[in-house]
Amino acid sequence: MSDTHVVILAAGKGTRMKSAEPKVLHRAAGCALIDHALRAADSLQPSTIVVVVGHMADRVKAALGKRLGLRFALQEPQLGTGHALLQAEPHLAGGSGTVVLLSGDVPLLRPATLQALVKAHTARGAAATVLTARVDRPQGYGRIVRERGQIAAIVEDKDATPAEREIDEINSGIYAFALEPLFTALKSIGATNAQGEYYLPDLVRIYRERGLTVETVSLDDPREIMGVNSRRELADVTAILKSTRNEELMAAGVTIIDPATAWIGSDVIVGADTVIHPNVYLEGRTRIGSGCEIHAGVRIVDSTIDDGVVINNYCVILESRIDSGARVGPFAHIRPQSHIGEDAQVGNFVELKKTVLGRRSKANHLSYLGDATIGERVNVGAGTITCNYDGTDKHPTVIEDGAFIGSDTQLVAPVRVGKGAYVAAGSSIVEDVPAGALGIARGRQANKPGWVAKNKKK
Ligand code: UD1
Ligand code: CA
Repeated sequence: MSDTHVVILAAGKGTRMKSAEPKVLHRAAGCALIDHALRAADSLQPSTIVVVVGHMADRVKAALGKRLGLRFALQEPQLGTGHALLQAEPHLAGGSGTVVLLSGDVPLLRPATLQALVKAHTARGAAATVLTARVDRPQGYGRIVRERGQIAAIVEDKDATPAEREIDEINSGIYAFALEPLFTALKSIGATNAQGEYYLPDLVRIYRERGLTVETVSLDDPREIMGVNSRRELADVTAILKSTRNEELMAAGVTIIDPATAWIGSDVIVGADTVIHPNVYLEGRTRIGSGCEIHAGVRIVDSTIDDGVVINNYCVILESRIDSGARVGPFAHIRPQSHIGEDAQVGNFVELKKTVLGRRSKANHLSYLGDATIGERVNVGAGTITCNYDGTDKHPTVIEDGAFIGSDTQLVAPVRVGKGAYVAAGSSIVEDVPAGALGIARGRQANKPGWVAKNKKK
């Protein structure tokens, strides 16, 4: 068990977002701000992660509910960052080791920076280590006040003297603390300041007065600690996350034709020699193989695409899997739990939902295939519809290997088309078609000779 614990502050209101959503659930580059903080936390392999929630606590907890091992501390009311950290006491009291404090609204922090912070903190045996940065515009941040080079205090912007406001070294809001003295010391923080809040940075002055060691680690790239307090800043960090991921992928051999319009999430993996065209969105846990071509206007979420797949323009692909050599689109909608087999083809205006399309099968034009299991080398003719819904329940359609479904067929589920069977164009199939049979279910054509001449008005 590691003796590192992480506390993430996410209780604040985020007033400047002007949002009905909790701030930390706003998304940057495909995942919530708090998920970015959790990714940084995970990189320390901590034994405990406590998320301090308060404003819209239930919403934040619900959004993170799927993550195992997270603990929540409720801060109600929100009386400041010092008060917020104190709420984590029940989860950590009596333990030992290092507490790393992160903000839920600071998404650019790199794992390497965090590791360097913890390493320096432990090596120097400090009671607290503050991550600081020098910035061109320190307005709004807490300033690092030094005496003979040593950090003496942190002064909040609103409490700073004009001289202190000139200081360009700022508090990132990210710290490492020795666990043992922390919670007792937090209780001695007061709230007599401009905002009437319990300021966590006041711990620096308190520790120094008690002769405890407080250290700083300085950041090379201050952009890493950019916080999101407004929609403007959300767009700024999103742009940075985007360009960082694009640079990494290009360095690893991915062609991105127009990096300005390629939106590839931080968790998305793309193989070498894949070509990403303009206005492509790759989100969530998406994995794209090598040698793929992802054409303009495509959006892919939480999906796995194998090597050598071509996704033509303007497709939406959600929670699905596409095997190597397949071709999809243009204008295809691949909805969750679909699986397109090797070398299969899905053409224009085709929608798949919870459908398996087997190896080398084709559904090339204007179809809806829902709750269907389609074998290998099946030809699904233009305009084929699986009628999977009876108004109450969904029913499955099975089409076995080598079957041929004529154009404009309705397959009224539950129904099965056997191996190698044919269905005549324009059929409404309500009964199973046995293997090798021809199913035909449509009105018989009658031609009436001379009808036009007889009926046409003079
Ligand atoms: C804080 C620091 C400041 C630092 C800056 C870096 C304090 C008093 N100031 O200021 O020195 O330069 O971060 O970005 O800590 N939160 C709670 N409960 C609360 C108050 C805040 O959970 O009662 C959370 C917020 O949701 C946020 C984080 O703590 O995630 C920081 O709070 P915020 O109000 O944004 O602090 P800043 O004014 O930015
Ligand atoms: Ca902030």
